[in-house]
Amino acid sequence: METYMLNDRQIEDIESRSKAYPRKRSALLEALSIAQGEKGYIDGVDARQVADLLSLSIAEVHGAATFYHMIRNGPGGKHSVALCTNVSCTLRGAKEISLLIQERLGVSPGEVTEDGRFSFEEAQCLGCCDGAPCMMVDDELHGNLTREEVERILEDSAGKAGDI
Ligand code: FES
Repeated sequence: METYMLNDRQIEDIESRSKAYPRKRSALLEALSIAQGEKGYIDGVDARQVADLLSLSIAEVHGAATFYHMIRNGPGGKHSVALCTNVSCTLRGAKEISLLIQERLGVSPGEVTEDGRFSFEEAQCLGCCDGAPCMMVDDELHGNLTREEVERILEDSAGKAGDI
């Protein structure tokens, strides 16, 4: 028998959202967001339960969970940094910005810093292509990034919570 991890409220919320659409699968992104909950990420057990609740395959759930940057597939850092590396941002220097962030934080994309303060990932389009290159730091979107701006944003984020 499968052991599930979502609590009753999360299950009720997912079932309720799935009834709002003609097809349950349309609630997938909302369901992943609900499943992520306070833990801040979903693991394989959560993904399996979401798949069962929405009558989807685990591959379909995994595909969505790994595509959307707002869904985490493992524990994150205190601050999350998501840099868009899609076409517009890459054409305007996102790869160089990515290397700068990796150097400053000492992590590769998909990793969390040793002190747990930052997680860094390369993301798909963040919807601000006209301000490329762009990144999200926690819930804040930053566009027209320059090296200097990235340095300032990382320092501000680290300092916000009295980390430095
Ligand atoms: S391509 Fe980067 S925000 Fe759209």
